[in-house]
Amino acid sequence: MVLSSSSSSWLLSSLALFLVVTAGRSQLSPNYYHQSCPKLPFIVKSVVQSAVSKQPRLAASILRLFFHDCFVNGCDGSVLVDDTGSLKGEKTAAPNNGSLRGFEVIDEIKSKVEAACPSLVSCADILTIAARDSVLLLGGPNWEVKLGRRDSKTASFNDANSGVLPRPSSSLDTLISLFQAQGLSVKDMVALSGGHTIGKARCISFRDRIYNETNIDSLFAKAKQMNCPRSSGSGDDNVANLDIQTTNYFDNSYFKNLINKRGLLHSDQVLFNGGSTDSLVQTYSQNGNAFNCDFVAAMIKMGDIKPLLAPNGEIRKNCRRVN
Ligand code: HEM
Ligand SMILES: *[C@@H]1O[C@H](CO)[C@@H](O)[C@H](O)[C@H]1NC(C)=O
Ligand SMILES: *[C@@H]1O[C@H](CO)[C@@H](O)[C@H](O)[C@H]1NC(C)=O
Repeated sequence: MVLSSSSSSWLLSSLALFLVVTAGRSQLSPNYYHQSCPKLPFIVKSVVQSAVSKQPRLAASILRLFFHDCFVNGCDGSVLVDDTGSLKGEKTAAPNNGSLRGFEVIDEIKSKVEAACPSLVSCADILTIAARDSVLLLGGPNWEVKLGRRDSKTASFNDANSGVLPRPSSSLDTLISLFQAQGLSVKDMVALSGGHTIGKARCISFRDRIYNETNIDSLFAKAKQMNCPRSSGSGDDNVANLDIQTTNYFDNSYFKNLINKRGLLHSDQVLFNGGSTDSLVQTYSQNGNAFNCDFVAAMIKMGDIKPLLAPNGEIRKNCRRVN
């Protein structure tokens, strides 16, 4: 069939309209701030770099903030919002209370970004870039992040407490289904768990494992018991490295530890305990490049969880408060 000129021009104009509408809806893209805020990547990197050089653990804390942001209603900066009289946010929900850290680094980035490009860059995007830079600074892989998320106008204690976030006591089946619920595969889940190659956990998160479990190296368990008393309440906040050898270095030793029954959390060791994920753990323990590759792919997928796009959401002026 030959199109008449009027129907082909109708087609062209509807195509143009479609392009305008989808551009207006602004899907995530690496170039999102190239024109509007070219200094953005440099500002983020320099603040993260100076924070992490003073305290390497902050890299781990920022990576975890990104994960906990994305799993609760998508990557929308909601985890950064402070409680107010009328809003109970995510910070004191069980998986977060007394445990999330690094907020000051995000605040410092935000104030420098606001000075350079006012009301343009979301806190959610700042956290996305900062998490990537954190991994890179500790010797991990580099990747291009997608940007253009907007910030939530709210935050929810109940949503963060509802069980969407995994617990250190979670079983393998629970981990698989919690990640699957976010559109993340078993492979994504195992690769992302490799985030525990950096940072620390509190005694309260691993006490049951080091006193009660049998799939644990006994010397490792004894060493951890020295700084984590059996009776609950005492020493709850004492910390231990998630990766016994190189907790300030992003590498694949987390998976080597699992093979040696030296996973610190119950939820770590379930990945190598005779179940369906053993072979992936084996692969990553032997092949750091395979781990890096799958980790990067999974971080990008995690960053794609329910993006809040214009015209929804807002660009917060202060990451701790909705405008
Ligand atoms: C698979 C399910 C996961 C569980 C059950 C889990 C649980 C935990 C727990 C209990 C802690 C210690 C919290 C504390 O005691 O204060 C922790 C720390 C940490 N998690 Fe996870 N996590 C999981 C997945 C992830 C993912 C996907 C990432 C990022 C890719 C991640 C990154 C981290 C980091 C970097 C730390 C150390 C934070 C710091 O030192 O401040 N975790 N995680
Ligand atoms: C959070 O932790 C603090 C300090 O341990 C505690 O006083 C507070 O009750 C906790 N909040 C919630 C909501 O559990
Ligand atoms: C270990 O298991 C025992 C028996 O189930 C339980 O009473 C105890 O609270 C558990 N935790 C620790 C740290 O011993």
